[in-house]
Amino acid sequence: MNAALRAVVRAAIFNQLEVVGIKRGYAGMIEGAFVPLRSRDVSNIIQRGGTVLKSARSKAFMTKEGRQQAYDNLKKEGIDGIVAIGGNGTFTGANIFQNEFDIPFVGIPGTIDNDLFGTDYSIGYDTAINTVMQALDKIRDTASAHNRLFFVEVMGRAAGFLALRSSIAGGAEGVLIPEVPTHLEELHLYLENGFKKKKSSGIIVVAEGDEEGGAYKIAKKVRKDFEDYDVRVTVLGHIQRGGSPTAFDRVVASRMGVEAVQALLDGHSRVMIGTQCSNLVRVPFEKAIKEHKNINHQLYDLLTVLNV
Ligand code: F6P
Repeated sequence: MNAALRAVVRAAIFNQLEVVGIKRGYAGMIEGAFVPLRSRDVSNIIQRGGTVLKSARSKAFMTKEGRQQAYDNLKKEGIDGIVAIGGNGTFTGANIFQNEFDIPFVGIPGTIDNDLFGTDYSIGYDTAINTVMQALDKIRDTASAHNRLFFVEVMGRAAGFLALRSSIAGGAEGVLIPEVPTHLEELHLYLENGFKKKKSSGIIVVAEGDEEGGAYKIAKKVRKDFEDYDVRVTVLGHIQRGGSPTAFDRVVASRMGVEAVQALLDGHSRVMIGTQCSNLVRVPFEKAIKEHKNINHQLYDLLTVLNV
């Protein structure tokens, strides 16, 4: 998010605009927490995880009074265009705000879940994939040294994008995601086959949103049937949301930041900047938040082939 912020500030200044940062997102909008941002204020942040402006989930912005307060503050501050970085909740809020008030909003997708329709990537996703991959590499050492079967739970809310891609990158033996029904009998069969093939260890990546429950629940069900496998569970948690961003994330974020400013200059509003096949696109908020983004089933099938 810092790379995107840096790009927005510098693209705006490049176009002779003044920029004000809003601390803690919508909460700061309501509190009037504005800070002027000049080019040097965003120096030395491209390599940092998180966001220097900080983030918050604002209940008050969900109320009409809260949004009215935010609007009054924005008007007082002389703000006439907003770039919001976030996921579904951020754009849902922006969309409601736009039904009521006349300040244009442009969005930049920032979520490790990568679940927004209309964009191949959201910022943070690639970094999270790499974090999970590195964790799987490390877990693999114990799995193979001790002949263990690991269930590794990864984030993603109700989506399996992060789980799927990281399972391929980490050479996992299987992945359980909400987009594909999980049949425990199939998992059993799969493990049995693996055992017959003299596989003594394995890693199954479990998306936190999988309908069979998290990794602990699934491991419990499997454990009693596979005494030969020493079953372990690792829940990766919030390490997936931090750390220095990958080059890929920094480049995507920089491109989106500059494009967001351009969209405002073009008089566009209620759109999210996305990438499709490496091209920048402008996707209406309505679509980004309401349409369902599907996983790439070719990737899912790939994992089966790779585990022959
Ligand atoms: O939406 C991003 C995400 O990291 C999800 O993958 C995860 O379920 C959730 O946020 C965690 O939220 P919190 O930090 O509030 O526990």
